[in-house]
Amino acid sequence: MSQRMISDVLNKPDTALELSLRPSLFSDFTGQPKVKERLEITVEAARQRGEAIDHVLLSGPPGLGKTTLAHIIAKAMGANIRCTSGPTIEKASDLAGLLTNLEEGDVLFVDEIHRLQKTIEEYLYPAMEDFKLDIIIDQGPNARSVRLNLPRFTLIGATTRSGLLTAPLLTRFPVRERLDYYGAGDLHHIVVRSARLLNVEIEEHGAAEIARRSRGTPRIANNLLRRVRDYAQVKGDGKVTGEVADKALAMLDIDEHGLDEMDKRILEAIVTKFGGGPVGVGSLAVAVGEESDTLEEVYEPYLIMEGYLKRTPQGRVATELGYRRLGLKFAGAAQASLL
Ligand SMILES: Nc1ncnc2c1ncn2[C@@H]1O[C@H](COP(=O)(O)OP(=O)(O)OP(=O)(O)O)[C@@H](O)[C@H]1O
Ligand SMILES: [Mg+2]
Repeated sequence: MSQRMISDVLNKPDTALELSLRPSLFSDFTGQPKVKERLEITVEAARQRGEAIDHVLLSGPPGLGKTTLAHIIAKAMGANIRCTSGPTIEKASDLAGLLTNLEEGDVLFVDEIHRLQKTIEEYLYPAMEDFKLDIIIDQGPNARSVRLNLPRFTLIGATTRSGLLTAPLLTRFPVRERLDYYGAGDLHHIVVRSARLLNVEIEEHGAAEIARRSRGTPRIANNLLRRVRDYAQVKGDGKVTGEVADKALAMLDIDEHGLDEMDKRILEAIVTKFGGGPVGVGSLAVAVGEESDTLEEVYEPYLIMEGYLKRTPQGRVATELGYRRLGLKFAGAAQASLL
């Protein structure tokens, strides 16, 4: 059958839906208590001093609330936010254009900041540190460097791969926060809130079922809620009960543990094609027909967090739990010695 996979749910968020469900205040933002508290203090302190807040780097797997938090921070600061992303800044002049259009206290949000080109990154260093921008004007023998003063702005960077950021860029973010997968309780809360906003009647068991099978990810929870709602409307009376949610999710090939087709295919490939591992991410990507970046950013973090697979210096290895999830017996010592 056609693969209905988490990457679809993640990569193609319904923009209108996301906007309507996206919390805009810290008080509406569920979960991540430590991150939230630290950011709220940073914002409050800067506000009291009447200054822009320090640059913030938000990292973590897709759909956990990085963009949401960037907007919440800007709003709490009463600041304008300009949004761009690493790959769309192609030339130094694009960056110069963005920076010179900022006003005092503005937030510049750079999504996927790990995909910024190195040459452009270098222009960003003095801009972040000293609020200066050195630009080269003219070419050839007339070329000269001009230093522009920039307003005190706040850069908020978001990345799914903080490990790919260079040290000089990383260290220029005084505030660095990592978002983690959400627990079932927080997701339950998010599902109930979203159902209220979408006018969906939902029972406790229905919300719990969706929460449990959303891979710890609010975006997935919201998208699954919408699909379950459709199912409830067509096959039932519109109410999302535990049973309706269970049937709808099964129809979407999301198993009891929240694993989808691709998750299972990854585990299966490691176990059956590579003898349980270790296997390099490149070979694994080829075996399952997915980009290695997507494997590393989207699938692996969750499988690792749930204990189905491990990363070792030699490559990926399926754990005993991973074997069990596939209904297979753990091969034993050979693998175990690597875990
Ligand atoms: N803590 C939260 N409480 C309630 N809803 C949330 C929370 N975090 C995220 N969401 C919901 O999940 C959606 C996705 O979040 P967001 O776009 O901020 O993720 P992201 O981390 O920026 O993902 P990506 O890496 O793909 O850009 C939001 O539109 C919002 O509706
Ligand atoms: Mg985002």
